[in-house]
Amino acid sequence: MSRKSKVKRVGILTGGGDCPGLNAVIRGVTKPALDHGIKVFGILDGFEGLVEGKAQELYNKDVSGILATGGTILGSSNKGDPFHWPEETDGKIKIVDRSKEALKNYEAWELDALIAIGGDGTMHISKKLSDMGMNIVGVPKTIDNDLEATDQTFGHDSAVYVVTEALDRLHTTASSHHRVMVIEVMGRYAGWIALNGGLAGGADIILLPEIPFEWEAIYNKVVARNMMGKRFSIVCVAEGAKSKDGSLVMKAKDLKRTDPIQLGGIGELVAKKISDNTGLETRYTVLGHLQRGGSPTPFDRILSTKFGTQAIELAIKGQFGRMVALKGNEIKSVRIIDAISKQKLVKPNDQAVLAANAVGVSFGIEKL
Ligand code: F6P
Repeated sequence: MSRKSKVKRVGILTGGGDCPGLNAVIRGVTKPALDHGIKVFGILDGFEGLVEGKAQELYNKDVSGILATGGTILGSSNKGDPFHWPEETDGKIKIVDRSKEALKNYEAWELDALIAIGGDGTMHISKKLSDMGMNIVGVPKTIDNDLEATDQTFGHDSAVYVVTEALDRLHTTASSHHRVMVIEVMGRYAGWIALNGGLAGGADIILLPEIPFEWEAIYNKVVARNMMGKRFSIVCVAEGAKSKDGSLVMKAKDLKRTDPIQLGGIGELVAKKISDNTGLETRYTVLGHLQRGGSPTPFDRILSTKFGTQAIELAIKGQFGRMVALKGNEIKSVRIIDAISKQKLVKPNDQAVLAANAVGVSFGIEKL
């Protein structure tokens, strides 16, 4: 089946941190595009490849058999912002603007459209490139689920699945050894992974960036559980969580990254404070990049395929400067500018927060 389209050559890239479902989107874009006689060029390593002119044509064989594979066949990077390009000389980092080179490559490859798959960083860059004249269609990706314009990003469900499985495993060892088990999960400044994973995995305490916690409330909860005969507790901490009187716990700062802050360490701190202040034996686990690797869940495979096929459909229709988005059960599109105007954060009255609270989960504060 083929349809006449003015769009003849489409570029596709994956930007920022990877997540399960990227390959399913690439397949969802490429298969129908080829069917319509459109050539697809896979740009390598995100915007880095656009600036440095690294791309390869994609054929059916390249996107066959990749629905269930994790990672991205195109490679990705969270350091290749064309407008904020880090150049290192003599150990010093200088930030330069290489967006003109990106545009030059887009024109040299004679692209009619560029499909940019990524999170908020990628969408910010996409907006600026589309202001320079590129025809961009965005696809929202991130395990963090922090893009306001879509009900869900692909990758989130897979990350929540990993957290849930980890919590199930921690439960059995926590209960055997009568310990407090703290698990630190990803999510950056949003608590969606901790909230949804914590709820699905039956955490006793969930700590979110959006609800600064009180140390005493945490100690009281684990001690109260012990006194009730529940001789173990599970604490699910978002990497961006902080106490009311504290600040974000950072692992490193890297000026080459689109977001220089690398979060990490709050899990260890929470475990230490619980142990010091309650005397209960405590261990911590940092789940890290396990949340980003591996095969996408069925939900993410379906969402990614829908996103990919809708993205190429938008390109064929010439609807540029837009991002595909899940709204209820339907895939719609929104202007990229609207997609980046606000970050989606957990509200204290979110139904998942209220449900967790109703079944006795503590958010580390005496009263929600
Ligand atoms: O945005 C996705 C994410 O996995 C965050 O949850 C996390 O803070 C960050 O990326 C980790 O980035 P990196 O892979 O650069 O360590």
